[in-house]
Amino acid sequence: MSVTSYSLFFFFRFFFFFFFSAFYVHSKSLPHLSSPYLSPTTISPNYHHMLKSFKIFIYPPDEDLAFDSRAESLFYASLQNSPFVTHNAEEAHLFFVPFSSSLSTRSIARVIRRLRLDLPYWNRTLGADHFYLSCAGLGFESDRNIVELKKNSVQISCFPASDGKFIPHKDISLPPLANSRAANAQANKTTSFLGYFRHTGVKESTLAKKLVNDPDFLIESELSDQLTYAERLASSKFCLFEYGVDVSGIGEALRFGCVPAVITDRPIQDLPFMDMLRWQEIAVFVPVVGVKELKRVLVRTWGDRHEQMIRLGAKASQHFVWNELPQLFDSFQTVMYELWLRRHSIRYPRRESE
Ligand SMILES: *[C@@H]1O[C@H](CO)[C@@H](O)[C@H](O)[C@H]1NC(C)=O
Ligand SMILES: *[C@@H]1O[C@H](CO)[C@@H](O)[C@H](O)[C@H]1NC(C)=O
Repeated sequence: MSVTSYSLFFFFRFFFFFFFSAFYVHSKSLPHLSSPYLSPTTISPNYHHMLKSFKIFIYPPDEDLAFDSRAESLFYASLQNSPFVTHNAEEAHLFFVPFSSSLSTRSIARVIRRLRLDLPYWNRTLGADHFYLSCAGLGFESDRNIVELKKNSVQISCFPASDGKFIPHKDISLPPLANSRAANAQANKTTSFLGYFRHTGVKESTLAKKLVNDPDFLIESELSDQLTYAERLASSKFCLFEYGVDVSGIGEALRFGCVPAVITDRPIQDLPFMDMLRWQEIAVFVPVVGVKELKRVLVRTWGDRHEQMIRLGAKASQHFVWNELPQLFDSFQTVMYELWLRRHSIRYPRRESE
């Protein structure tokens, strides 16, 4: 199979996975699931093994680092203060290459070139046991250093990733940082709306314009206060998110029993914790369709399997919480777990001359 047909195959596999499963498969009777995880029996022992054993070597950065996004800053600060850091590169499972968000591609290439020449670790795997943070993601370049970094190293970027800047199964996306603090609010579930949609302004959002006059939907552009916001989520069956516009509330939606309905014009391959969570069981993925069709999908999903989705979503929501001091199964530690799952790489023996 050629590379193109191979990637087409993957493209269509994802396409059918998300779109068809959302529309057709769920009318069949559903298995009872007690866990939102793809492999529920291995996750806990693996996770605890990670907490005990995972070692990361951080290359000393050239300058004080500055990141564009708060999720990156929190991740970096948590990593530096974590027990995962080792000063002995020989015992490290993975190597972290730190650089500021504003660093030019050319300067990043210089950083990699220096690592390659000065130390033995890059050459052993051509970067495959290395990772880096870049909210926007790196693009493809012709420079050899960037090619290896981009193709081999694990990129941690923000969700949603920019088009073409995310390599599925290798890269990781950071769960979005909630922009409201409903974390400690409590709300009783009294569903009065089919869908809740919080957006940044009617002018910009065609979805808001389409839904605003429909009494089944609650549409808001102002950020509600904490309790109200939690109540809003708890009083709606689905929380609508436009992929690529604003998905920052997805963790809170899961937590408050508002099943995320992600509206997207293409298959999503960069969902946070995609190789760990059964996303199909905690969220619905709806193509860009008219209001009638959207309602039809939501109503049917609700009829089929809402209780299970809410229960599994609440369980999964712990992975979407960012803390100043990392806690078990929160965003930082779950990203670390995703890195742990990627720690195996082939290390080439050193060659004397090349
Ligand atoms: C890594 O490999 C390059 C050739 O690709 C070589 O020039 C360089 O010296 C090697 N680095 C080390 C530390 O041996
Ligand atoms: C939720 O319901 C319980 C019992 O019905 C009540 O005591 C509690 O005050 C309610 N909480 C909120 C936040 O409305």
